Amino acid sequence: MSQTSFDTRAFRSALGTFTTGVTIITARGNDDAPVGITANSFNSVSMSPPMVLWSLAKSAFSLPTFKESQHWNVHVLALEQEPLSNRFASRGEDKFAGLALDEGISPAPLLQGCAARFQCRTLFVHDGGDHLIFVGEVLAFDRSERPPLVFQGGQYAVTTRKPHEPPRLTSVVPPPDCVYTEDLLGYLLGRAHFQLLYQLRETQQATELSDHLFYILSVLLIRDRQSLAELNAFIGYTGSPVTRLDLDALTQRGLIAAESRDSVDRYRLTADGREASLHQIAAAKAVEQTLTERLGESDAQILKLLLKRLINDSDPGLPDLWVADESATSKEYLP
Ligand SMILES: Cc1cc2nc3c(=O)[nH]c(=O)nc-3n(C[C@H](O)[C@H](O)[C@H](O)COP(=O)(O)O)c2cc1C
Repeated sequence: MSQTSFDTRAFRSALGTFTTGVTIITARGNDDAPVGITANSFNSVSMSPPMVLWSLAKSAFSLPTFKESQHWNVHVLALEQEPLSNRFASRGEDKFAGLALDEGISPAPLLQGCAARFQCRTLFVHDGGDHLIFVGEVLAFDRSERPPLVFQGGQYAVTTRKPHEPPRLTSVVPPPDCVYTEDLLGYLLGRAHFQLLYQLRETQQATELSDHLFYILSVLLIRDRQSLAELNAFIGYTGSPVTRLDLDALTQRGLIAAESRDSVDRYRLTADGREASLHQIAAAKAVEQTLTERLGESDAQILKLLLKRLINDSDPGLPDLWVADESATSKEYLP
């Protein structure tokens, strides 16, 4: 194909449709200095003997080291290693600063926390246009259950398993004019929310705390000494605003206590209140653990990612619960 008719940007974009994992490939020079680059050109070649390949730009700073060193390690990155990928995709800085390394079978640096690792020895180096193609024999490998980081269309991505059959909540096909089907997002979110809470009811019944009272305790667990208006800035959006009666009920049960400052009543958790909310949160974490095991670590992380996006996109302007100095009263959610 003639070079003049070739659109490099379109070529790159077309290649980007090929989804890959992300690796960091490391080596150590004769001067003992470590090098490493982020690469998604990694691929398997042969099962027997076990062989892999990847390609390195001839312009790469690390090229002389990869050429002279006989060994290199491929690290298939885990989802949470995106910052590490960015670090090794940039030039100049000391890429290995502060990183804990494992002992490998060669001097090449062996990074931790990856989805999989392959320790290799160079078999061939082929010319590949503006890249060199390294083909290596795999001498050792290991893998973990960590979900992998993915690269697609020039961006990091996440993968989820595609079930053979899409999950269905009903066994009947709704008539075409049915306006309320199982695909209504509000129904899916609401049902998932209440099914999760359903598994907490036993703990909740023991503490005799309604969902509503538990929300108040959880806000106070994060932000102490809140007024009624401040509590409502966090809880009012649920449609069940906090009332004086709620606060009186929690005070009478010895779970919160009021203190007056500048003629405003502010509420804090008592030791019993703290204990009750920690107990409930521990139960919620146990339920989450079981669900994560069923969904798989990767899908559980993806679910949280999508929920956070949805929450950000539909946020009515709630104050940040975890920011200590923000004035919670700046926005009103009282109906
Ligand atoms: C997702 C991703 C994949 C990459 N894949 C490759 C690759 O396969 N080969 C390559 O030479 N550079 C690749 N790069 C670019 C290098 O990581 C980058 O040029 C790095 O700075 C090279 O390091 P060095 O110049 O210190 O050797 C990739 C970058 C990213 C973000």
